[in-house]
Amino acid sequence: MTGRKVYFDNAATTFPKPKGVADAVYEYIENVGCNINRGSYEGAYAAADTVFDTRSRLKELFGAPDERNIIFTPSDTYSLNMLIKGIVKEGDHLLVSSMEHNAVMRPVEALARKGTVTYDILECDVSGTVSGVMMREKLEEILLRTKRENKRFRAVIFNHGSNICGSVLPIEEAGRFCSEHDMFMIADCAQTAGFLDIDMERMCLDGLCFSGHKGLMGPQGTGGFAISDRMAEQLDTLIDGGTGSFSHLLVMPEELPDRFEAGTMNIPGIYGLNAGIRFIEETGTDNIRRHERAILERFYENAKDIDGIRFAGGGPDPAVSLPVISVTCERMDPAELAYRLESEYGIWTRVGLHCAPVAHKTLGTFPKGTVRFSFGYFNTVEEAEYGAEAIRSICERG
Ligand code: ALA
Repeated sequence: MTGRKVYFDNAATTFPKPKGVADAVYEYIENVGCNINRGSYEGAYAAADTVFDTRSRLKELFGAPDERNIIFTPSDTYSLNMLIKGIVKEGDHLLVSSMEHNAVMRPVEALARKGTVTYDILECDVSGTVSGVMMREKLEEILLRTKRENKRFRAVIFNHGSNICGSVLPIEEAGRFCSEHDMFMIADCAQTAGFLDIDMERMCLDGLCFSGHKGLMGPQGTGGFAISDRMAEQLDTLIDGGTGSFSHLLVMPEELPDRFEAGTMNIPGIYGLNAGIRFIEETGTDNIRRHERAILERFYENAKDIDGIRFAGGGPDPAVSLPVISVTCERMDPAELAYRLESEYGIWTRVGLHCAPVAHKTLGTFPKGTVRFSFGYFNTVEEAEYGAEAIRSICERG
């Protein structure tokens, strides 16, 4: 037993946050406190300015068409539900990948069970991704088949990067196909926002869903989506209510972002998110990637020859992968490995299926799952060495 604590669960939520995040939340609650789009007084304008500034920074970060096209929601999961359930009509067909999180699988499956949609799963390989060529072949095959069946192939929903093994999917190629065929491309960027460069317009994304509390380093309860004008025009609202605008109407206004932002938003959270994004801008995503990939690489180099260890997805490619790596040890159950990492070394990981059973099936790690190590900007290379040594010692002792 050690008094040390090492946090390796940054794919669940990044911790710690940059110092300015808590200060910004405190500043809002203590000194601003007003709602936005409701009262016409100074404090309300100050809060509205910060919310607008956050949209503006996200617009730049994601290459979105305009600030209006950035919609705040409580989380990436809410965003995915709003886009998936809001865009389909009866008889539509969808495509997801076999690396999806339940934030995609459950809304899609729920729609399928109601009889609203049918869907296909694009099988990724055991490394957790698929080539652009194979993906295009599958897209073309489904397009032809759905035409024959008089169905509309409406949307592709792909995970940008895996929360289990850090593999990255070719969403840009899928986006191009969708824009060529009047379909919609929705990307789940929960694990990539703030880490990989994303350019919504260049990548032809219609919906880009993000979490605020992971790579963007804001507080929990923040998230949202960036949406193309083309998709916004056809998206039904899932949540209706007060927007503080067009109050004479009994329906949601047409204007963005109001159309998709009913109810008082999480303003303290957005203040914190604003500080998280500023930290990313000041640090530079290049520097963040370089640091987190150095940690990933050292961890992998030091752990890869441990007897009996296996890496989900075959191990990362530190030039491409997200800073997420999952292991199993043939001599013990993943739950025991995770328990011993914590009880003997103070290392916090996430064990099990990571809310992504379909992805674990793809990687061959279902049903027990893996022990996942996910690194963040505040981890160090020394911690990676400590983590690898801890696994070596546990696996070798058995
Ligand atoms: N989806 C998050 C994770 O992978 C919560 O841990």
